[in-house]
Amino acid sequence: MKTKVKKAILPAAGLGTRFLPATKASPKEMLPIVDKPLIQYAVEESISCGIEEFIIITGKHKRAIEDHFDSAFELEEKLKVTGKSKLLKEINKWNQIKFAYIRQRAALGLGHAILCAEPFVRDEPFAVILSDDIIDPEYPLLKEMLKIYAEKKCPVIALEEVPISEVNRYGVIDGVQEGRVYKIKNLIEKPSPEKAPSNLAIIGRYILTPEIFEHLARQKPGAGGEIQLTDALKELVRKTPIYGYLIRGKRYDVGDKLGYLEATVDLALKNDELSKDFKDFLIKKIKTLS
Ligand code: G1P
Repeated sequence: MKTKVKKAILPAAGLGTRFLPATKASPKEMLPIVDKPLIQYAVEESISCGIEEFIIITGKHKRAIEDHFDSAFELEEKLKVTGKSKLLKEINKWNQIKFAYIRQRAALGLGHAILCAEPFVRDEPFAVILSDDIIDPEYPLLKEMLKIYAEKKCPVIALEEVPISEVNRYGVIDGVQEGRVYKIKNLIEKPSPEKAPSNLAIIGRYILTPEIFEHLARQKPGAGGEIQLTDALKELVRKTPIYGYLIRGKRYDVGDKLGYLEATVDLALKNDELSKDFKDFLIKKIKTLS
């Protein structure tokens, strides 16, 4: 098996029901935070960690994702003529990056989406990036996970401590702690707080090895009637070590309306063009609220 992680799978076939009606006819992954769609944050984070190829799992109503990373002749010409070179550079920066798109014919779950990418991955380790989770770039989670993978040569999944009342929104692990790393013993998808083995939730960054595919192929529908990645990992951990890595910085669950608003505010405050005016606006606004 090759050992360097160069490919990332980005599942983007979900129905986006938490954001209806906005996501009825357009992809959730294209919702913008400030001026970039969610999926662009995931791609940029991956590129900064050395990922070179992207396999995006799409479905119905998801064509805008392909268009976003494609060239746009008319727009480029217009930007050239009007001298908007900074914007031109921004929209052209994908030319050197390899994207492949696979259509998941039915929304059968995260596990099934990843299984769809098997022919494009073959014998390589790969990352799985869920664009619902935006990670604070000050603490590059994926980079830290890749270091652990390079050392252990075993799957690594990202973890975050969440309030116990929220564990039913996540996959949850049971494991033995070694610093920020956990050696995983068991995993459960969306347990009730009573049945959860801990409050350590899986968040949307995984480094996986191709052995996962045989387990995914065997999975029956699990939580929510979907083929779950967590269930395949639960089988895999009986045969091979899997490590969990506890995130250090902030994660925004932008698949959730409140998380989306929090990310919008924080990233607008970090945006060079907007931060000053936006901060002034917020300060005034808060005064009117108190
Ligand atoms: C998926 C995974 C879950 C994980 C979560 C992280 O759930 O199945 O194990 O905790 O992503 O965001 P979803 O959010 O797709 O329901």
